[in-house]
Amino acid sequence: MDKINIEGGQRLKGTVQISGAKNAVLPILAAVLLTDEKCVIKNVPPLRDCITMLKILKELGVKSHWCEAERQITIEPRRYTNHVAPYRLVSMMRASFCVLGPLIGKLKRAQVSLPGGCIIGPRPVDLHIKGIKALGVDVKIDHGYIFADGKNLRGGQVYLGGAFGSSVLATANVMTAAVMAKGKTIIENAACEPEIIDLAEFLIKMGAKIKGHRTHTMEIEGVKKLGGAVHAVIPDRIEAGTYMIAAAVTNGDVTIKNVIPEHMGAVIDKLQQAGIKIIRSADSIRVKGRVHLKPVDVTTLPYPGFPTDMQAQMMSLMSITEGISVITEKIYPDRFMHISELNRMGAEIMLEGASAIVKGVKSLSGAPVMASDLRASAALVLAGLVAKGKTEISRVYHLDRGYERVEEKLSALGARIWREKEK
Ligand code: UD1
Repeated sequence: MDKINIEGGQRLKGTVQISGAKNAVLPILAAVLLTDEKCVIKNVPPLRDCITMLKILKELGVKSHWCEAERQITIEPRRYTNHVAPYRLVSMMRASFCVLGPLIGKLKRAQVSLPGGCIIGPRPVDLHIKGIKALGVDVKIDHGYIFADGKNLRGGQVYLGGAFGSSVLATANVMTAAVMAKGKTIIENAACEPEIIDLAEFLIKMGAKIKGHRTHTMEIEGVKKLGGAVHAVIPDRIEAGTYMIAAAVTNGDVTIKNVIPEHMGAVIDKLQQAGIKIIRSADSIRVKGRVHLKPVDVTTLPYPGFPTDMQAQMMSLMSITEGISVITEKIYPDRFMHISELNRMGAEIMLEGASAIVKGVKSLSGAPVMASDLRASAALVLAGLVAKGKTEISRVYHLDRGYERVEEKLSALGARIWREKEK
């Protein structure tokens, strides 16, 4: 296993290129299952989660060719017939569950392992089930699997809201089943995260009839057949936000390239409130830090609100911002595993229900810490960049799920960061 070492205290300067969005490419790769024709997906980030998705496609009988140099995956689904996504693969990554919708759409049946919970808290799939049932699909749960029988697949109307708002991947699953259902589907309270819009754009290129995908009410008119398509995925707004905070936390001056600034509204707003200077252009954002920042309160919400996937990173920034800030989690109330590790580095953060009360300290001190999940790992890297002395982060395989060559990108900005094999 690898670990990442950081010698903190360098001001980051320069330019960083953002990779394609992990959360966009995964459901798009799954949606390729809807056609027999060749699809070419571009701007694919070389991440472990993409490898996992290709393994699932392979298991289903679908071949792919990944040209990493060109960041491009070519897939020719042909006439695959396997409809079983096994536990062994689905348990590696929750996004695997988004093969459910395309399998139902194309093969009219699916057997997909339930993904289970994870370190950021319970992650139910009731909205996925509610959505596909509304399309006339018969669903049974047995031995940890969902058995979906879609021989009567037809359009329907469904409200996809739960206790914590809409669901991103449930929206993806319902959309990808509905595009090949007979008749019209209306999804109310559909997620409208940029990754869902990107999926809809890909499906439209394949021949799907989708309207309203930039709003919370999506209308889909099912078609009999979908064709191949060529699509470049959007840039990763969470990776971009993480580098924005890397610039802010080190009082640096970094230009983030290959980003869609409109996707970054909530993060830009909070950083500006904290006193960070942000200069936007069509496809880049320049972030200029400053020594004295102001505390800000943050509440995570569905898009266009502040993303839960940026909560941990924002907490690292607030932990060295004088004053008190309150960070409230409204998507995953248990997503606070990073607090104890940040506190080991000298932060003063207290948990009260689903809110973290962050009392800014003057400095953090490097320490051995352990990554618990993807975004918590990013928060520890950010803390390490500003901490005095050396921080050693173990279990970085979490980080590799979502950040391409993080140590190389940060080194190029002037950070002292290196990877080594854990003994
Ligand atoms: C996606 C993202 C993840 C992000 C999350 C929220 C991918 C691969 N992952 O995950 O990075 O943190 O959106 O922006 O795109 N819920 C239910 N019932 C369900 C499904 C979800 O109650 O059937 C709840 C969840 O527990 C959570 C909330 O709804 O509280 C939102 O979760 P959801 O949008 O489904 O997250 P994912 O799509 O799994």
